[in-house]
Formats: sequence, C-alpha cells, structure tokens
Amino acid sequence: MAETTDLLDAGERLGADELRELQLERLRAQLGHAYANVPFYRQSFDKAGVHPDDCRSLTDLARFPFTTKADLREHYPDGMFAVPRERVRRIHASSGTTGRPTVVGYTDNDLSMWADVVARSIRAAGGRPGDTVHVAYGYGLFTGGLGAHYGAERLGCTVIPASGGMTARQVQLIQDLKPGLIMVTPSYMLTLLDEFERQGVDPQSTSLRVGIFGAEPWTEGMRREIEERFAIDAVDIYGLSEVIGPGVAQECVGTKDGLHVHEDHFYPEIVDPVTGEVLPDGERGELVFTSLTKEAMPVIRYRTRDLTRLLPGTARAFRRMEKVTGRSDDMVILRGVNLFPTQIEEIVLRTPGVAPHFQLRLTREGRLDSLTVRAEARPDATAETRKAAARAIAAAVKDGIGVSVAVEIVEPESLERSVGKIRRIVDLRPS
Ligand code: DLL
Repeated sequence: MAETTDLLDAGERLGADELRELQLERLRAQLGHAYANVPFYRQSFDKAGVHPDDCRSLTDLARFPFTTKADLREHYPDGMFAVPRERVRRIHASSGTTGRPTVVGYTDNDLSMWADVVARSIRAAGGRPGDTVHVAYGYGLFTGGLGAHYGAERLGCTVIPASGGMTARQVQLIQDLKPGLIMVTPSYMLTLLDEFERQGVDPQSTSLRVGIFGAEPWTEGMRREIEERFAIDAVDIYGLSEVIGPGVAQECVGTKDGLHVHEDHFYPEIVDPVTGEVLPDGERGELVFTSLTKEAMPVIRYRTRDLTRLLPGTARAFRRMEKVTGRSDDMVILRGVNLFPTQIEEIVLRTPGVAPHFQLRLTREGRLDSLTVRAEARPDATAETRKAAARAIAAAVKDGIGVSVAVEIVEPESLERSVGKIRRIVDLRPS
C-alpha cells in the first residue's frame, strides 16, 4: 500500500540533520532528568566520572554507563522512577522467567507519547482512521494489549480488545466484526489459523488485510507462511517494556525491509555484547536503547540483549533495525556452536511435509548436551514424507549451522500451542 507523505506526523517528516539536532537536545535533557531524579543514575554516572553536561554530541553518549535488567531488578519495585508516585498514571511489568518482575511506570505524557508511536506504527503498517483493529496481544501487566489498544484508538480506529486466549471466540469475533487489522504474536496467529481450519472457515476469506506481529522473534519463512495462509500482509513491530512497550520500531508495509526505529523518542546503539564497544551502523551486535522523552522512567543505555544491526532509513529518515534474530539469552551453545531458535524456524518452514510448529528439547547424556528438534507433520504428510522431512531438517542444520541434532517428526496437533509469547526451548538438562 502506498503511503503519501501527508499522512506522516511531524517526527516522521524530519530530515536527517533536524533529527540529529532534536535527538541531541532531547538526550541532554533526558540525561539531566535521570541524573537529577534517580539516585541509581546519579551514582552510576558519578562512578563512571561523567556528568550530563559532558554530553555535547550524540557520540558522547558512549561515555555513559550501561543499564541492565539486573539494575532494574535491584531497584524493584519503583527505585528507577524519576517522578513522585502521584504523577505515575500506570504501571506495567514484564514477568521474566526467573526472579522479580521488572516494573515500569508511565506519566500522562509517557502514555500519550506511547499512544502516538503505536498509532504511527499502525499507520506505517497500512492502518487508517476508521479501520477496525483486533487486538489479541494479552491485556494486563504485559504491555502488548494496552499498548496496541491506545495506539489504535489514537489513530482513530475501532478497537476489539480481544486479549489472548479463548481462541474459538476470537475466530467468531473476526468473522462477525470484520476487522481489517490484527495485532498478535506470530505464534498465536498460527493457533488462530488452526482454529479457523477446525471451524471449517477459510482463513483467506476473512476481512483481515494486515497483521502486525511482534513480542517474539519470527523469520521471513514465518512471514511467508502467515501471508499465504491468511492472504494478508504481515509486518513486524518491536518493543520492550523497559523502553515503552510495543512501538519502539515498526516495519512499513510498503517496503517490508526491517523496522524503522522511532528515533525521535528512542536512541538506538549497537554494541559488542562482550566488550560493550559501540559498533558502526551495519554491524551486528546487541541493541541498546536510551529513551529521549520519558518522564516516569527514563532509561539510559539499556542493554536489550536483542541481536540485530542498524541500517539507513528508507521510507523515513529514522534508521532501520534488521529483524531481530534472537536474544542472547535464547542462544543455545551446543558443542561449541551457537544456535538460535530462529535458525531452526527458517529450516522447518522450508521443509515440505512439516507444519510451522516446532520445539527444541535440550537434554544431557553424560557430559554431552544434545538437541532434539521436534516438528509437527502436516496432516496430509505420508510416512515417507515424514522420514524425508526428518532427514532434510537434520542435514540442513548440519550444513547450515554446523552441528548434529536429532529430529523427531511428531503427530499433527501434538505440540503445545501458543496463546502469547511462545517458548521454543524446553531445557531438560539437570541444573
Ligand atoms: O514484548 C512488547 C511488545 C508487545 C512488542 C507487542 C511488540 C508487540 P516485553 O514483554 O518486555 O515487551 O518483551 C520484550 O520481546 O526485548 C525482544 O526480545 C522480544 N521482542 C519484542 N518484539 C519483538 C520483535 C514486549 N518484533 C522482548 N521481534 C524484546 C523479535 C521481539 N523479538
């Protein structure tokens, strides 16, 4: 869908020089705000021997210390807040698999900025005022549901706040209320696909024309699968609660070439995950964000652990980030070889006879770790096709990633389905 420039907001129309100027001005104010109002930042800047006044150019940001998830946990629940509690209008939290959740707070202005960047995201995805948006991200402490919700309202859309779960009802709502857009995790979209088929409804016959998918890594193979099965455009939305929630970066439907980072509010850097050194645009590493306009909880050089690279802007002056290949936390090290679930996803999705449902099982025999790829057969796959698929997956992993894995082709509909973020790795190794 072509996007005319008169639909763009003021931030999106900035030229590259104006954008850098605005970023520097906002960055200096944000560093000052963090230093003045959050004891953690005051201490960490002092310890590193830097002061907000030392930031005279965008590259000076590299002199400031990083902030990690552990820092946020240590100041649980609200030690990172920079405003008094009565100015905090909402709280979200990311559950995390271990330990304390990470709590984030928003002022009125933060909520408004968030709605703006999500509205911008939906528009870049092809949504327009008057469209109906079905939101199947979970509502609650997770930022997906409410973040999408207020963004869609801000754009002037009609929102169906379906949240996650009750899958049969979701299909009914889509049939009856005829949304043009859906916002959901890609893995839950596949669960919806099964349900359409179970109810005997052709998934290509729905009113949906665009899906805005995020909250977990997904590959080009998954994009093709979803686009073909539903006859829709599938675009990527990225975000994390610590920075704001969904809407930090968004892919444009017209180009589908990575996600434009909403750089007027979130300043990205790519660093070497081991040394922390800033890497030039184009090089792969860990994504780090500094908020530029947040009030309740500014974040300075927050280590996302997401791996990607920055590329020049295309449809906007904002730089793009490539689709996230994975989180450093999700990397499996198998006999010295690094492997991400997305690499397996690419392979599974191009293998004939297997469905886009798979799971990775890690086990240990003696001192040796092994990985079993469990992938579901398509309902029409014969015994021969299944055998060939197992061989093809094992060979592709060996050739492409360089490690031997076991492959099991399991019965259709036997793997657990996602209702939100999917868990790809089942770690059965003794701790
Ligand atoms: O997942 C926010 C969100 C909601 C984004 C809905 C998009 C849509 P958290 O629960 O804090 O927030 O998890 C953030 O999820 O650091 C990434 O590892 C991963 N993630 C989010 N979006 C993408 C994406 C929300 N498009 C963590 N591609 C992030 C890959 C993603 N990974």
